[in-house]
Amino acid sequence: MKKLAYILLGIAILSACTTSSHRDSNSVLESKVDSVLAKLTLDEKIGQMMQISSYYSSDAEKLKELVRKGAIGSLLNEVDPKAVNDLQRVAVEESTHGIPLIIGRDVIHGFRTIFPIPLGQAAAWNPEIVEKSSHVAATEARSVGVTWTFSPMIDVARDPRWGRVAEGYGEDPLLTSTLGAAAIKGYQGNNLTNSNTMAACAKHFAAYGAVEAGRDYNTVILSDQELRNVYLPPFKAAVDAGAVTFMSAFNEINGVPATGNKLLLTNVLRNQWGFNGFVVSDWSSVPEMVRHGFATDEAHSAIIAAEAGIDMEMSSDAYALNLAQLVKEKKISEEVINNAVRNILRVKFQLGLFDNPYVDETLSQRVMATDSAMALAQKAAEESIVMLKNENNTLPLSTSIKRVAVIGPMANDRYEQLGTWIFDGDTNLTITPLHSIKKLLGNNKVLFSKALTHSRDNSTNSFAQAKSMAKSADAVVVFIGEESILSGEAHGRANIDLPGSQAQLVKELASTGKPVIAVIMAGRPLSIGNIMPYTSAILYAWHPGTMGGPAIANVLFGVTNPSGKLPISFPRSGGQCPIYYAKKNSGRPADYTNWVPIDKIPVRAPQTSLGNTNHHLDDGFEPLFPFGFGLSYTTFEYSDLSLSSEKMGTNGAITLSVTITNTGKTGGYEIAQLYTHDVVGSITRPVKELKGFAKIWLDAGESKSIEFTLSASDLAFYKSWSEQVVEPGQFRLWVGGNSTTGLTQQFSIE
Ligand code: BGC
Repeated sequence: MKKLAYILLGIAILSACTTSSHRDSNSVLESKVDSVLAKLTLDEKIGQMMQISSYYSSDAEKLKELVRKGAIGSLLNEVDPKAVNDLQRVAVEESTHGIPLIIGRDVIHGFRTIFPIPLGQAAAWNPEIVEKSSHVAATEARSVGVTWTFSPMIDVARDPRWGRVAEGYGEDPLLTSTLGAAAIKGYQGNNLTNSNTMAACAKHFAAYGAVEAGRDYNTVILSDQELRNVYLPPFKAAVDAGAVTFMSAFNEINGVPATGNKLLLTNVLRNQWGFNGFVVSDWSSVPEMVRHGFATDEAHSAIIAAEAGIDMEMSSDAYALNLAQLVKEKKISEEVINNAVRNILRVKFQLGLFDNPYVDETLSQRVMATDSAMALAQKAAEESIVMLKNENNTLPLSTSIKRVAVIGPMANDRYEQLGTWIFDGDTNLTITPLHSIKKLLGNNKVLFSKALTHSRDNSTNSFAQAKSMAKSADAVVVFIGEESILSGEAHGRANIDLPGSQAQLVKELASTGKPVIAVIMAGRPLSIGNIMPYTSAILYAWHPGTMGGPAIANVLFGVTNPSGKLPISFPRSGGQCPIYYAKKNSGRPADYTNWVPIDKIPVRAPQTSLGNTNHHLDDGFEPLFPFGFGLSYTTFEYSDLSLSSEKMGTNGAITLSVTITNTGKTGGYEIAQLYTHDVVGSITRPVKELKGFAKIWLDAGESKSIEFTLSASDLAFYKSWSEQVVEPGQFRLWVGGNSTTGLTQQFSIE
């Protein structure tokens, strides 16, 4: 007993010390920030709030002059370590106060070593992979002097027409929050002064993923509840994970541009969540408030943005041209400027830039695309692959297969498999699937035809040749999808079918009678219903990055058992979008008994109320593949779901355990998912919400029991902008392998 008391006392003293030393280091930091700030003229302060792109400065001397004058605080897109050092030298040695620059870059899914696109990484449901790949990205990027990445993008996105769906972690707030926090940890590590870390940037704050019709930059209209319950949680998680910067979004939300949104940027982000880093606008999003019809002119846009809480302006110059005059005219208080500069300087101190702004110019040669980085990129790609179909165990193919036909525009394209935002990637490092399949089987067993020059190619000229290859092979693997440029910023698509004549190619290949395995590389869920009847198996590989080739080959030939699960629902057509599992039930939920498909409606049928449920006549009411879905070469069975109690208090928690058995003949990962449904609420609640997940390895025949703790606070929701509640009542829960199945039980909050 006495011993325990000592231990507790020890812990108490230790934690008191850590808290007070934390406070001390904070106050040391704040006094350093204040002492720099105190020396700055108004113009120099405003200079810190400016970020320009080095692209603009083909004139290096002009750029240096700006730095020398203290007219810019940050540069984006400079990745030559020598140029970075030159500019830092001017900033530190030739500007009046010697404030170093912070160098930003879009390092979105790797720097030199390219990992799967974030949506692909999300399909691995593995925070450790996201953290480690972000750490590799930070190591590589900082070695050239980049100290700040504009990543992670944690915009929940439920509409795959939106091109930027590629850049985030999918449709679910919990999955996005977890993976976003992991990315931040990976980028920032424990100490931002280390040469293998960089500042992260949680973007785009907020609700950018909800743009109408998936058209980029478009209007967002969302209820307070949707914003609070669905779109904001990943950003709260980013603050909790220690993200030192945020980026505002291009879109408006309910009439107020995100870049001028004081409610979000100040009330929520700073006052409620306690964020003390800095916020950068998106590219030109400050003056764009004029076009939004929210600011009368650029000067007005500068006032709105600065007062809302945008500390740094990216690329445009509404601040540089207007803020000083506005302060003089007392149209904006200098304290607004001071706070912004404090926020920026704080991060520069945290990055250690005042102590050492330079980078070792030889470092990059040693840290780029190391063997371990490439191995991790391969593991990430393997875990991101989702097997959507595997009729009669077509896969895995045997390595003793006599001949395989590899067909399609994505089979051997070093560039297209890398995906969107790969400024610093190197296609010379890419290993393609064709290369890897040949390596595995030997050249003489592999026939290859590209069949189409690229994914949008509409020609059919090479189909005859591809078919004759297919005929002489034992299996056909067709690599199709979307080129990199068809997803990402400003690359929304209204029709999300496979572009060009790719679907026709698959059909023609199937007419040979040979098993056709489709491997799809894309930046979004494509509507692939039209190729389903013509394929025996489908692997969805997203844009898998540098090591996509060996990853795909390993899955095709059973070296690796696929384990990815969809982080986003796969619609049957663009017309079904947005479609997501956490929908509301409606007063007329659709079901198969009431749905009369369009072709079954008799001609001149009179109008009746029969079958009037929440469906589309043509595409029904379910996605083609649901959230959380993915097949394996083995099978898993869930049993023995038990709850520590069927009741919990409004501050309570229950533990649930479940046994998972690998009932097949090969070892594999299973991603177990826990969903809940709040049956009756003071506002209607989604039919299911993900509340936990666990990725576990099971050898063939092995059983493991896993536990989840479900707290009442996990079931809290905002019923209005400011009222978060845990409501007593009945709940249902499911534990299973995707969002449509699982063992189920009821419990209540009392
Ligand atoms: C994008 C941001 C990106 C920025 C800098 C903008 O167009 O929306 O996500 O970080 O450019 O390149």
